[in-house]
Amino acid sequence: MKSHFLLDPQITYLNHGSFGACPKPIFENYQHWQLELEREPVQFITVKGPKLLKKSREALAEFVHCQADEVVYVPNPSTAFNIVIKNLKLNAGDEILTTNHEYGAMDRTWNYYCRKAGAKYVQQPIPIPLLSKEQFLEAFWKGLTPKTKIVFISQITSPTALIFPVKEICERAKELGLMTIVDGAHTPYHIDLDLSVLKADIFTGACHKWMLTPKGCSFLYVKKELQHLFDPLIISWGYEAEFPSHSQFLDYHEYAGTRDFSAFLTVPKALEFLESNNWRERRKTCRQLIQDTYLEFCDFLNTKPICTVSDEFLGQMCSIPIRSADILKLKEVLYQEYKIEIPVMNTRLEFESNSKQQFIRISAQVYNSKQDMQILKNALSDIRKKSNLLE
Ligand SMILES: Cc1ncc(COP(=O)(O)O)c(C=O)c1O
Repeated sequence: MKSHFLLDPQITYLNHGSFGACPKPIFENYQHWQLELEREPVQFITVKGPKLLKKSREALAEFVHCQADEVVYVPNPSTAFNIVIKNLKLNAGDEILTTNHEYGAMDRTWNYYCRKAGAKYVQQPIPIPLLSKEQFLEAFWKGLTPKTKIVFISQITSPTALIFPVKEICERAKELGLMTIVDGAHTPYHIDLDLSVLKADIFTGACHKWMLTPKGCSFLYVKKELQHLFDPLIISWGYEAEFPSHSQFLDYHEYAGTRDFSAFLTVPKALEFLESNNWRERRKTCRQLIQDTYLEFCDFLNTKPICTVSDEFLGQMCSIPIRSADILKLKEVLYQEYKIEIPVMNTRLEFESNSKQQFIRISAQVYNSKQDMQILKNALSDIRKKSNLLE
């Protein structure tokens, strides 16, 4: 499978989680659309492209189990969340209940709009190690107050690489009359996604991570009843549309001025590639590799896993607690000297009395093997012997 990917063979690539990686047949499909666009820009952008986009959106909708006019393509989750949060009409004192494991860009977006409105972004501490769903739910709902209006939560977290029980959160939020907004950036094709079962009000996912499309392909789902709340982030021809479609939601958000939407058109090809290469089976192997590696590395680094090591909380990534005097230098040395691409990060999470927990996050995609994990282990062992960059 490694030969299908465009990744530099000199690099041990253990960071699929950040920006994904695109296999050649899907990338070729992307370039095919780009070439068509440049051969006849007017025809492609105004006639053929919109038809292809509709087909692609329909394929995506079928895959995530929603209607084709409940979902629009956006370049990335930041765009999706800015569309959503900017339009929420937050009032002073309103609270948004979230966790302390969320992605930094989303924390910043919420902080920005909450500050403007005088609303409060409540980052409820989720203790690690995470041992059971019940423990999670109890900790999360402790943050609920009469002022809570919205629940915002990642389905798979970025710093800690944990799968959160989002379905249970959405169910309870619904009973409480709260709006649910799910950051599913890592979800599509990483774990199963069925929006008709999840029942989040709003969901965003990135296709360029685990669904293997080229960069700049993500989506925003908003259930029909709420779509009227969301004005376009970029006002363009879709606003006061000359020839409106049946859906204002699509008109508003699908046309954001002249742009190359070729990445959006690769979704049918990506889905076909994943299905025909039996990806659901392959990802099981990756999960197993992660679980084995997690325990082995915790042992080797004299630390503990931050969750029960099982499919309940772990997908194709794991975050291992580490201690380093200089985390940026550690990352640089791993890349420059050992040619390993891997995220090493500071967080504000507390774990085992270390108030600023640091993690190294391993991703496993089909192009990774046990050998890659051994390369990382050897490098860490070497670094530990030679420097004070790793305790
Ligand atoms: C939880 C989560 N949300 C969102 C994103 C991506 O957001 P964007 O591509 O807009 O920076 C990521 C990317 O790693 C993520 O892990």
